[in-house]
Formats: sequence, structure tokens, C-alpha cells
Amino acid sequence: MKLFIDDANIEAIRELIEYYPIDGVTTNPSILAKAGKDPRETLKEIREVIGDDMIIFAQAVDLSFEGMIRDAHMIVNLLGANTVVKIPSTPIGFKAMMALQKEGIPTCGTVVYTPMQALLAAKAGASYVAPYVNRIDNMGYDGVGIVKQIQDILLNNNMACEVLAASFKNSQQVLELAAYGIENVTCGPDVFRGFVKNAAIDGAVQDFVDDFEKLTGKTSMSSL
Ligand code: E4P
Repeated sequence: MKLFIDDANIEAIRELIEYYPIDGVTTNPSILAKAGKDPRETLKEIREVIGDDMIIFAQAVDLSFEGMIRDAHMIVNLLGANTVVKIPSTPIGFKAMMALQKEGIPTCGTVVYTPMQALLAAKAGASYVAPYVNRIDNMGYDGVGIVKQIQDILLNNNMACEVLAASFKNSQQVLELAAYGIENVTCGPDVFRGFVKNAAIDGAVQDFVDDFEKLTGKTSMSSL
């Protein structure tokens, strides 16, 4: 499973890529709005921090077909290789995905709340589809279950499209999808920090150091 950071805060991205095995960064217009400055500047900074080899996702904002294509060109020109353009999974979005596939620009069908949206985005040539787990849960449906159904549809139809599960509120949702073999997950910094936030883990780690110090008066092997 690849792990992406769903955020545009540069300090949070720096911290997470230092401590976690991260594969890239995903953004959307609301995430860029939270950064509070020119979104081109934010996206360029993210690219600089993560380097050229990691994948960055940025979303086309314009809702017309021509505008989506223009936004996609602008995003790819700004961020270079290893950039995926997120396109809403709507009829106009499917048209844009088909056109961008012909140009060789990779897309992610985003705003996916239903398996049918994912199927159509995949058929339209999207390289990824992004179902919103927590938002689906909040509508009273089973977000994790819908992601699994989407994965089954893609695999059983031999579609060259991967799931990028998004919108998480906790580790359990992520683990359940990891067990199911979902290829990509994107989480905000708080969900990442919660992955191993556990008093039992911290206590056990500290106990080892305390026992060693009682024996040797030192808190590291190398200082013996
Ligand atoms: C990803 O494609 C989405 O933009 C994002 O994960 C949505 O997350 P949210 O429901 O926390 O806003």
C-alpha cells in the first residue's frame, strides 16, 4: 500500500516525510485554501519539499470541460513529472479524463461517493479513483465497504486503475483497507500521527531505557 499525505501545510509535510514511509502528497482546492496563499506557490513548495520522484496530486478547479483541460495543463506545467491531475467524477469530468488520457496526462477521478462513479472514471482512463471513506460514512453508508466494492469492480474487470482511498478519520479504516489490498491511501497529518499514538507503546519503549539505565547508569549502548 502506498501512503500519501492529504495536506498542504509545508511544516506538516516536512515532519511526516521525515518520520514515515511516505509516497507522495495529495491536495484539493479546500486543502490549498487552508494554506492561505497563492496555490501555485503552495504546490511548488510541496514539490520542492518532496522532490521530483514522489507523486503529487492537484485538482482541476474549473467545472467546464475546456477549463478542466486548461487547469490540467497548468498543473502539469507547474509541477512536472509524477503529477496526477484530480478531476471530479462527473459527466464533464469523464470527458476531460478521456481527453487527458489521449494526451498522456495521468488523472485521478475524485469526489467518488459511489461505485458507479469509480467504474466510469476508470473506463474514462483515470489512473486512480478516490473514494471518500469518511464522508460516505457520514452519509450513513459504509465507506470502507464501498471502497472494497470499487476495488472488486476494478480487479474483476482488469481495469488499469488503482484505488486512492481518501477522507479518513482513524487508523482502523486504513488498516481494514490495507488488509483488503487497497493500493493507495491518503490521510491528513492528524490521522498519520494517530497511527502509533499509544500509551502502551510509549511506556514499553521507555521501560527498556529505564531498565538499562538502572543497570549501567547510561541511556545508550554507545555511551557504555
Ligand atoms: C481526496 O481526494 C479528498 O480531497 C480528501 O481526502 C477529502 O478529505 P476530507 O473528507 O477530510 O475533506
